[in-house]
Amino acid sequence: MAVRIDDQNLIFYLETEHTSYIMQVVKGKYLCHLYWGKKLTKIYPERLLSFHGLCCSANPDETDKTYTLDLLPQEYPTQGAADYRRAALETEYADGSILTELFYESYRVIKGKPLLKELPATYAEEGDDVWTLEITCADRRTGLEVKLSYSVFSQMDVLTRSVCIINRSSARVVLNKAYSASVDFNSDSFDMLTLNGAWGRERYPERVKLRRGNQTIGSVRGASSHQENPFIALLREDTTEKTGDAYGFSFVYSGNFIAGVEVDQSAASRAYMGIHEDLFQWNLEPGSCFQTPETVMVYTDRGLGELSRIYHRIYRRRLCRGKYRDAGRPVLVNNWEGTYFDFNQKKILAIADKAAELGIEMLVLDDGWFGKRDDDTSSLGDWYADQRKLPDGITGLAKAVHLRGLKFGLWFEPEMISKDSNLYRQHPDWCIHVPGREPMECRNQMVLDLSRGEVCSYVIDAVSQILDSAGIDYVKWDMNRHITEYYSAGRGSSGQSELCHRYMLGLYHVMDEIISGHPDVLFESCSSGGGRFDPGMLYYMPQIWTSDDTDAAERVYIQYGTSYAYPFCTMGAHVSTVPNHQVHRVTPWKTRGDVAMTGAFGYELDLTGLTAMETNVVKKQVQRYKRLRMWLPAADLYRLENPFCGNYGAWMFVSESGNQCLVNCIRMMERANMPEKRIFLQGLKEGCSYRCVETGNCYSAEELMYAGLRVSEDGENPDMRGDFVSFTWSFEKMMKRKIRRTNE
Ligand code: DGJ
Repeated sequence: MAVRIDDQNLIFYLETEHTSYIMQVVKGKYLCHLYWGKKLTKIYPERLLSFHGLCCSANPDETDKTYTLDLLPQEYPTQGAADYRRAALETEYADGSILTELFYESYRVIKGKPLLKELPATYAEEGDDVWTLEITCADRRTGLEVKLSYSVFSQMDVLTRSVCIINRSSARVVLNKAYSASVDFNSDSFDMLTLNGAWGRERYPERVKLRRGNQTIGSVRGASSHQENPFIALLREDTTEKTGDAYGFSFVYSGNFIAGVEVDQSAASRAYMGIHEDLFQWNLEPGSCFQTPETVMVYTDRGLGELSRIYHRIYRRRLCRGKYRDAGRPVLVNNWEGTYFDFNQKKILAIADKAAELGIEMLVLDDGWFGKRDDDTSSLGDWYADQRKLPDGITGLAKAVHLRGLKFGLWFEPEMISKDSNLYRQHPDWCIHVPGREPMECRNQMVLDLSRGEVCSYVIDAVSQILDSAGIDYVKWDMNRHITEYYSAGRGSSGQSELCHRYMLGLYHVMDEIISGHPDVLFESCSSGGGRFDPGMLYYMPQIWTSDDTDAAERVYIQYGTSYAYPFCTMGAHVSTVPNHQVHRVTPWKTRGDVAMTGAFGYELDLTGLTAMETNVVKKQVQRYKRLRMWLPAADLYRLENPFCGNYGAWMFVSESGNQCLVNCIRMMERANMPEKRIFLQGLKEGCSYRCVETGNCYSAEELMYAGLRVSEDGENPDMRGDFVSFTWSFEKMMKRKIRRTNE
């Protein structure tokens, strides 16, 4: 069993196939962390606890002056006692005191994994080897009870943590901070990897050596954000893609978050993750509980590459849900970069005609189909078709698209309201704003107050009504501004600081209602590109628009960075026109196709303008993707060349069966007299032979992995010169080992 307990010594062992996480109750009351890392088979727990040292901190045990909470690795440290490091929980009681002392009380073990109330989370299915340990600690003087939940996905090598805080007293308790996880390491020799960025430049990896003190990332924008992603990894200095210790923390939440590490006086490190304490306060009424979101924790000694593959597997299989979790995604064409707001039914149907000819399977109508929206200054909230552009309405258009043999998808931005909209004229107080002040606009719009039930109901009804009436197969759910001027007209003066989290709960409720009511619809999340690319959204929507930057060269970096935590099959990726609209770069058709094809594939250009040669290219790309999607989404990813460190970006996928693999390599700049380039494949089965589908050449696994594959050996790319050239190889494992000389 994945959870073992030594009842006599109160030691808790959480074990996956390759890892151990061990806790112990110390001095009969403090729940402490003993170890997290490679699986330990034989253990002497008395040697695992590190906390003794002399310091001038308070000593809760009068008889032991070397014993202090300031060094004790507590599992859920609280503010106000003698631990001066970053606390996970901060409270305020009716008498103004803040001290909470959490002492161990009891535990229970549950087969499987209970759902988290109102929040997205990983889940267990019937037959999974998943167990949950719930440990109760409490401060009986104040009546605060805390249940720490640890779920162990033993075969996947994943551990999840969340916390439920219950007020058992008869007075209100205010939570000023309630993190989801805190983990102490008895070492500071780590690098911290984060994924940072901006609009159009999301999730660039940054690896920095830990220093003394707190180093944090986070968001207080009301969304997980383009700027920081809710993911951190701690890596040993010598950890590479293929080897070494890697610890990952990933937050299943789409709103404000904080994640970081504090290195203390004894060179120990405390990692933490949770809802950001800025702009957060929660009134915990008597008898009620506060559920924190979940942190998904992964350890591996097999490097950053394996850390990513573990996250990919759990997010693909036990976070994403619904019909499309395991199904190939349709090839789509989205009209945004093709027409922007300037379209009508005739134009859209002309694109649909061409799409059908090319083998594309779905047409997505983006922004501009509703209200009177000819630009971004109006109509958000007025979810009914603009008859000027679409005389037959959405129902008529969907029908016409279906008649051409295509699915039909539609863009919404359900969380927003334009000042120039009927909805705003009817309900000016439905947006988040401070009464008496002019609400600040961003892209000419404001955020609907989803902390209010009536606003949520409006959104659910408005979106569902269109989905029900028009035969929609896909929804692009966009969100294009962050929250400012935090205030909800629906609440009194107390509880305003709950708004950010209540907004998220409202949003999750709205999505749950709409999505569960339309199980056949494929949903794609979007937030000005990849501004909300997080595990919380993946629970509802199995794919996310990765970035508004559709330039293939830029996408090499963005998708490579995103892959540290998220699988390629969740990344919306489209071929767009050249010169590219964001960076004005010209990249070859093949590069644009190859880079997009590893994600949820589509086109984002005016297909009606394609030349005969381009028509042919697109047809071939679509056919190729249809073959690849039979196995690519579930394949394991291996990153081979880091584009942030040189002139090449390369990665490969190995199918679940191990019989197929795809290798992609993009050379950024052409140089005169370039030295020969070899890439070293990974994940192949030693002793086996592989045939390159494009060239017919055969290789041993050892040659491909240790001698390397010459980039110039690509059989697919006729034009190997120039900037941003893409090289691709597909390999099939040969049944029997049979090595022929290449080109024999
Ligand atoms: C931002 C999205 O990221 C784009 O793809 C597009 O849908 C626009 N919004 C439409 O306004």
